[in-house]
Amino acid sequence: PITGRTLSRIRPVIAGNWKLNHSPAAATEFLQAFLPRVVDSPAEIVFFPPAITFQAVREALASRGAIDVGVQNVYWEDSGAFTGEISASMAAEAGATHALIGHSERRQLFGETNEHARRKVEAVLAAGLQAILCVGETLEERESNRAEEVVLRQLEVGLAGVAAEGRQALLLAYEPVWAIGTGRTASPDDAAEMHRRIREFLVQKFGKDGRSTPVLYGGSVKPDNAAQLLAADEVGGLLVGGASLDPEQFARICRAACPSDLEKSASREK
Ligand code: PGA
Repeated sequence: PITGRTLSRIRPVIAGNWKLNHSPAAATEFLQAFLPRVVDSPAEIVFFPPAITFQAVREALASRGAIDVGVQNVYWEDSGAFTGEISASMAAEAGATHALIGHSERRQLFGETNEHARRKVEAVLAAGLQAILCVGETLEERESNRAEEVVLRQLEVGLAGVAAEGRQALLLAYEPVWAIGTGRTASPDDAAEMHRRIREFLVQKFGKDGRSTPVLYGGSVKPDNAAQLLAADEVGGLLVGGASLDPEQFARICRAACPSDLEKSASREK
């Protein structure tokens, strides 16, 4: 059995998924307010702005190399007649470091399947970006006791093309669909239970290297529950939607990254 804290806990990843919010001007204003509030956050912060806002975020962050910017989605082809899409290689050239794949809104509103997620994860890794594959069950699936089965299937298919070397650029996000944008959060115990299951899957697939793949929790993360969720077993970071739109709230979440864990890791590195 895999228990205890894994390497992924050392520097929590705090990702802000802006979805279809914040124009270039709004993003610039957001960052002016946000940056002074996170000067000493120990978190690895990543923003996922709308593609059209991406460059404005990069420019506003120019002086803050430590904060990353990713894209919310990519298509798996590099280029061609695919109106409305962007590719992983273009995102990489534009300076993206990460891509979200298989977010539940992509699955539910835009018909993305596990097979689509698989192709996208492969394209993202091939372009040298880090992929954050999102998984999670609906309320109906949870209530019919199929949560674990659904999540494992999403992992199995979504990661089918990832070899042991590829997993270094891989992150996962467990986002129970019933907790997204609803104000209903998984309890730290529920989150930990699924995160442990995901960790087991990763270790089965990648051997002991699977211990260090960060697994983020997402779904109604707020300043008031961030520290508790981050402290849950196997939670290596947070994927934040609604609360990442407000500079003060998101900064509070970034500062919730637990200092005592970092002290532990610092002494381990010595
Ligand atoms: P939420 O969204 O924090 O607004 O629930 C999370 C997400 O969809 O990534």
